[in-house]
Amino acid sequence: MSATNAPAATCPFSGDTGTPAPSSENLRDSVVPGLPQTSAGVEAPVADWVTIPDLYADPFPIYQRMRSESPVHWVPAVNRYMVTSYAACHEIEQDEDRFSADEKNSLMKRSMGHSMLRKDNPEHQVDRDSYGSTLRPGTIKKHWNEIFAANNEKYLGELLAKGPGADFVWDYAAPYTAENLRLICGFHNATQEDLQRWSQTMIDGTGNYADDPDVWDKSAASSAEVDAAIDEMLPLLAKNPDNSLLSGLASLPIPLEAIRANLKMTIGGGLNEPRDVLATTVWALLNHSDQLEAVKKNPKLHATAFEESVRWVAPIGMYPRETTQDVVLEGVSLPQGSRLGVVLGAANRDPEVFEDPEAFNIFRPKKPHLGFGGGVHFCAGTWIARAQVAQIAMPALFERIPDLRLDPSAVSVDAGWVFRGMTKMPVTWG
Ligand code: HEM
Repeated sequence: MSATNAPAATCPFSGDTGTPAPSSENLRDSVVPGLPQTSAGVEAPVADWVTIPDLYADPFPIYQRMRSESPVHWVPAVNRYMVTSYAACHEIEQDEDRFSADEKNSLMKRSMGHSMLRKDNPEHQVDRDSYGSTLRPGTIKKHWNEIFAANNEKYLGELLAKGPGADFVWDYAAPYTAENLRLICGFHNATQEDLQRWSQTMIDGTGNYADDPDVWDKSAASSAEVDAAIDEMLPLLAKNPDNSLLSGLASLPIPLEAIRANLKMTIGGGLNEPRDVLATTVWALLNHSDQLEAVKKNPKLHATAFEESVRWVAPIGMYPRETTQDVVLEGVSLPQGSRLGVVLGAANRDPEVFEDPEAFNIFRPKKPHLGFGGGVHFCAGTWIARAQVAQIAMPALFERIPDLRLDPSAVSVDAGWVFRGMTKMPVTWG
């Protein structure tokens, strides 16, 4: 769907599906009327009205209806149960014994290999530990912030040189976050453009619920390029170490297969998400002049705006889990081996937790969102994302281009549900 650049009081991402949402009565602890019941809970309702194109265009009205009907639905179009309430998503994240990340027939495993994200402990922890201190706050402060600031200067300069008028996502946010990730990973033999291509094509594979063969071909080609780049860099970094992930991995007894899968997963998660949150946050602020003015006056609010943006439009909208045994989740019974979609995009707008959840509002009372996941798989790049977007990019952006605004003659577009962000964002200044 496209969103106009007109200021909006409530969520401008949401549109009217023409389907009135049922009343927001909470059915979590009660029975779902008309559904078969077992002593262990009720069967999940079937949401056969949900389609992938509708989810891709604008999932939020769909999530509103789902949450109000039941915390869990069986969704035939997605071929899995979709879990949409905050409480149910949180319960899954905290319990890897009952909810495994090691999903069978995982699209991510097919696209990127078996990374830490799809392993359970103790195997997961070995891979996670292999990332050492590269992504940790101490290294960010000592090493990465300076590099992010230099990259930001370069790509802000390129944005300004294009203008007045450019696309915020493709002329600035994407190359900036791709260049940061290139150096974090240690791909000194690749360009930021390579990182963008690898990331998008492999992520398309991970979200290829429609099983499009062209998407698989492109994803496999990128996967082979990443393997070749890793093979070349590992011996070079073993001789000349730096602060990158590949440099740390070069000296560890980690199987090459795991290194490759973890790096591919990080290329997917470490680029698009900071890019998307940067664009979404700036887009939301440019649509809410009162909030923008507050952020400009008080630089501490950059961090608040960043977190509110991750809540409002979770860049990773859904991730999979699988039940290891029969379970009852928030009153809904799920048999062993059920494929689940943990829908962070819906949990983060649960009215049980967030007041007026569809609105972007940096002044809302602070409550933890689930945008970075939770439990043992809590995002390892949280601090990197916060640093490059909220600490470095946003303050410099509004200082260098104080009159930055959405181009009133063009339309911004946001899309996606497994991953969601701005796909077009024409801006102007001067
Ligand atoms: C705003 C930006 C980001 C968001 C919203 C985000 C979100 C997430 C989420 C939801 C997960 C857990 C998924 C699951 O449990 O299946 C995750 C895991 C992960 N993320 Fe991020 N991420 C972001 C940025 C980054 C960056 C910049 C990096 C690295 C440079 C990164 C690296 C990772 C890694 C390595 C994991 C796997 C952790 C594990 O399995 O233990 N992420 N991220």
